[in-house]
Amino acid sequence: MKVLVIGGGGREHAIVWKLSQSKSVDKIYCCPGNAGIADIAECIDVNQDDFRSLLDFVKYEWIDLTIVGPEAPLSKGIVDLFEKEGRRILGPTKAAARLESSKVFSKDLMRSHGIPTADYRVFTSYLHAEEYVKFKGAPIVLKADGLAAGKGVFVAASVDEAMDALRQIMKDRVFGEAGDRVLIEDCLRGEEASFMAFTDGQTIVPMVSSQDHKRIFDNDQGPNTGGMGAYSPAPVITEELQAVVMERVMKQTIRALKSEGITYKGILYAGLMIDKGKPYVLEFNCRFGDPETQPVLSRLESDLMEVAMAVTDEKLSEIRVEWKKDPSVCVVLSSEGYPGKYRKGDAITGIDAANRLEGVHVFHAGTAFKDTDTVTSGGRVLGVTATGSTIAAARKRAYEAVEKIHFRGMHYRKDIADRALQRESEK
Ligand code: AMP
Ligand code: GLY
Repeated sequence: MKVLVIGGGGREHAIVWKLSQSKSVDKIYCCPGNAGIADIAECIDVNQDDFRSLLDFVKYEWIDLTIVGPEAPLSKGIVDLFEKEGRRILGPTKAAARLESSKVFSKDLMRSHGIPTADYRVFTSYLHAEEYVKFKGAPIVLKADGLAAGKGVFVAASVDEAMDALRQIMKDRVFGEAGDRVLIEDCLRGEEASFMAFTDGQTIVPMVSSQDHKRIFDNDQGPNTGGMGAYSPAPVITEELQAVVMERVMKQTIRALKSEGITYKGILYAGLMIDKGKPYVLEFNCRFGDPETQPVLSRLESDLMEVAMAVTDEKLSEIRVEWKKDPSVCVVLSSEGYPGKYRKGDAITGIDAANRLEGVHVFHAGTAFKDTDTVTSGGRVLGVTATGSTIAAARKRAYEAVEKIHFRGMHYRKDIADRALQRESEK
């Protein structure tokens, strides 16, 4: 069978890599892909936002399945178009993707269906929002309503910081229309974890748990990024807690959407805060997480193509999804300046040497070719991922592999999975 993967980051490299191991996959295309994906898939030069051209390509090449990596095409309705034309595609429809594309929609759904989340108010008026912040005090969380590439969330430690965030969102409009409405939430405490599941709208199959590292610097300092590293499993998600999350969050969300006339198919991702053993939803994403997918798919024993087809064909209850026991750790290498304006075009060395180490796989994110060199072309450049018999062993391998890789201005966090390590040593 032939597959098209949409996207060109570390998440998509992990998806393509896993698909390439499937017995039933003969050919993989990726749009736009990157230098690493180009080793195992044919990267195509079609505008990712031009759904008609993508559809034409899928028809012309007789592609059996399209998998959508990022949220933007989903929120713009790529699935609706492909399904209308009878094409198999993995991901939710535009209406279902609102779970991620509108924070207000998602919070209102949670509130009206008893899904645990932080208390909140929604404002369209700057003055009323300002009054509310003064009334509530700090710490407090402010969020622009629409998609803001992960940057529309401010966890304000003081009222001044909150006022500044409010100005940026509502007055300066740094996120454009996403700032029409602002959500002001109570600040939750605890430990974060990512919980992803496959769902065909009826059956929900959890993936192994994972944990992201959102801030750019060690010890969770500095601005938020797309994610600087991840590991799986997240020890904070115990077996009992997984059962609670499945019931109270995942199943309840699918049911809640159904009661509003929306069938959700694809990947459902809940960003959770675990406080005193109880889960609260911080956000939903309608797609695989990045970088969580790199360690999570590294642990998938089953054939990803088989799972993806079971989702699109609504036969998820008929298959078993198996995972490997060994933990996995991914360390992201980023460009100088990221998450602000960053350097591009620097030659990268040592990827092959890193890949030769046992249990290591280097996923490409922002990479491209320049002549015969592989060069940096994005903020997050590589996701150095390793598996091992313990989190400690996987982490050690990942950092050994990082040592082999060089590019000018390379940055990475040195504390990925430290928290899990602490828990592992306490056992
Ligand atoms: P979101 O995009 O909504 O997940 O927010 C990004 C990050 O902001 C989360 O991963 C948390 O670290 C933090 N965050 C969001 N909402 C809250 C909240 N209500 N309380 C504390 N931290 C939050
Ligand atoms: N790593 C967080 C996300 O994919 O949104």
